Amino acid sequence: MRKVGLISCLVLLAVMAWGVTALAAGAHDAIGCTGCHNIHYAVGEKAFAVNNPTVDNPRDGKIAGVSALCLGCHETPENGGQGFMPIFLTTTHPVGVTPNKTIANFTDNLLIDGTFECTSCHEPHPSNPYYKYLRVDSEDGVAVDKFCALCHPAKVDLLGNYGLTQGDLPVFSAMNEEIGAGDFTQDEIVIHNTTPNYIAPVAPEF
Ligand code: HEC
Ligand code: HEC
Ligand code: HEC
Ligand code: HEC
Repeated sequence: MRKVGLISCLVLLAVMAWGVTALAAGAHDAIGCTGCHNIHYAVGEKAFAVNNPTVDNPRDGKIAGVSALCLGCHETPENGGQGFMPIFLTTTHPVGVTPNKTIANFTDNLLIDGTFECTSCHEPHPSNPYYKYLRVDSEDGVAVDKFCALCHPAKVDLLGNYGLTQGDLPVFSAMNEEIGAGDFTQDEIVIHNTTPNYIAPVAPEF
């Protein structure tokens, strides 16, 4: 009896250890595909499970599109999110803007319908191996300048520090199933496929 207790205890510990390892693979691995995509009862585009289109964006009025989907989780519950690592637009780098090229100069392929969104910087799919799901490898955040250089190259000593130019920076995307997930050049990058708007708003409007 005692032995069985010990064994189940060890099994439990092993399961707990496995759980921690699984989480360490990436925060979005833990929520799984259906954490973000609801197959039968979607509330947003791309069959999304959560949506938060009423958040105030200090830069440009209301938030919309993909950024509103992220904020369905990454806002406080009082502001329509789930409280996971809340991102407050009042204190966040601009999103939902049409970029002014004198401030940020980068490929239009990183925009969604001409607008700069959360996914211009992040590719949230579990296949993205990079720090904080950023689109550029920042070597676990140590070389975050390399990531900023994707859009603000005039500010970064890219050549001196990394021997690179803006055009050399590989950009991660998981949006082309024919080619697969991986790093792309800025000319070939796809961050958002234009698909028909399959989902009619059943819940809050999007
Ligand atoms: C953290 C949230 C998140 C998770 C987890 C997630 N996705 Fe997504 N997915 C998105 C977002 C956001 C988009 C829309 C991206 C865009 O259009 O720029 C998207 C788009 C897609 C698309 C549409 C692609 C296209 O070409 O239009 C498919 C298919 C998809 N995801 C499948 C999956 C699968 C399979 C998984 C599980 C491995 C998964 N997603 C996990 C957020 C997520
Ligand atoms: C279904 C809920 C959900 C949605 C939608 C979602 N996330 Fe997350 N995200 C999470 C959770 C849960 C975590 C882990 C939080 C923690 O560890 O406290 C997380 C963590 C993160 C992290 C940190 C990863 C790390 O390694 O620390 C980033 C970056 C992130 N999300 C970006 C996004 C972006 C961008 C979007 C929209 C495209 C998005 N998320 C949509 C649930 C979500
Ligand atoms: C200009 C690029 C950029 C944009 C736009 C952006 N992020 Fe981030 N995000 C980052 C960087 C860089 C980090 C890592 C910061 C660090 O580690 O100091 C990060 C970190 C995060 C984290 C993890 C926070 C933590 O405590 O570790 C989450 C969650 C997140 N972003 C979600 C979002 C959401 C949601 C949006 C859209 C509303 C968004 N991001 C827009 C660059 C961006
Ligand atoms: C994918 C492109 C992209 C990346 C990567 C990026 N930015 Fe930006 N950044 C922008 C855009 C777009 C704007 C808004 C330009 C405008 O006002 O039209 C901006 C604006 C800014 C501003 C001005 C904000 C203000 O309120 O006036 C600062 C500062 C800034 N970025 C810093 C950074 C830093 C630091 C990083 C790296 C951690 C970074 N950015 C990464 C696109 C990017």
